[in-house]
Amino acid sequence: MIKLSDRLQIIHDMVPKSVVADIGSDHGKLMVALVQSETITKGYAVENKEGPFERLRSNLIRYHVNDKITPLFSDGLKDLPRDTQTIVIAGMGGLNIVKILKAHPEKLVRVNTIIIDAHTAVPLARKEICQMGYAIADEKIVKEDDIFYEIIKFIKADKAIITDEDLEFGPILRQEKSATFKEKYQSRIFEIDTILAKGSLPKARIHSLNEEKAKLERYL
Ligand SMILES: C[S@@+](CC[C@H](N)C(=O)[O-])C[C@H]1O[C@@H](n2cnc3c(N)ncnc32)[C@H](O)[C@@H]1O
Repeated sequence: MIKLSDRLQIIHDMVPKSVVADIGSDHGKLMVALVQSETITKGYAVENKEGPFERLRSNLIRYHVNDKITPLFSDGLKDLPRDTQTIVIAGMGGLNIVKILKAHPEKLVRVNTIIIDAHTAVPLARKEICQMGYAIADEKIVKEDDIFYEIIKFIKADKAIITDEDLEFGPILRQEKSATFKEKYQSRIFEIDTILAKGSLPKARIHSLNEEKAKLERYL
């Protein structure tokens, strides 16, 4: 069995039995693991850069899943087959993820599940994907190599109502308040205290840091 990082394992565990496309598949480890765990029997691994694409192709062969997973050298959703039901986009900035999803809305018609791991602009990704007609069904936060990752699963929904707090902290994450969630915001509070302690900041900056700290404390 291929070994996944904690982050990729969480993504793996959120994937429903379906035809899956992994956009920005790189090494292809997620798709290999999904076949090995018998979660999927068909999928597409999409890469738009030559080096990662070659690595992906050879990993699919090495792990004997090349009869089930089709590698596509392509940009985002552009050449995605019509039978795709689940899309995974992990390990990219939130802006890039949204750009990829918005570039081909016609490809989302049959897509019931979108799973993202946005490394930046997470609130924006939540907002934009909800506006595309999806609701947040699951969320997890994980810390790896001192970086916090938020993994979000969206499912197709008629109407998703999401508050500003939900966008920022995650509707499920902020209810669950896991130890990792608390650690993320405690470390930001510590950072704010360190900046404030150094002094010589403009009044407006002190005010905004104190406001941010008070808001974070409300969610811990
Ligand atoms: C940092 S890696 C993440 C790999 C893997 N998804 C993970 O989470 O471990 C991002 C990959 O996405 C690919 N990528 C970025 N934009 C893409 C696009 N528009 N279409 C296909 N692949 C893309 C990059 O070439 C890179 O291999």
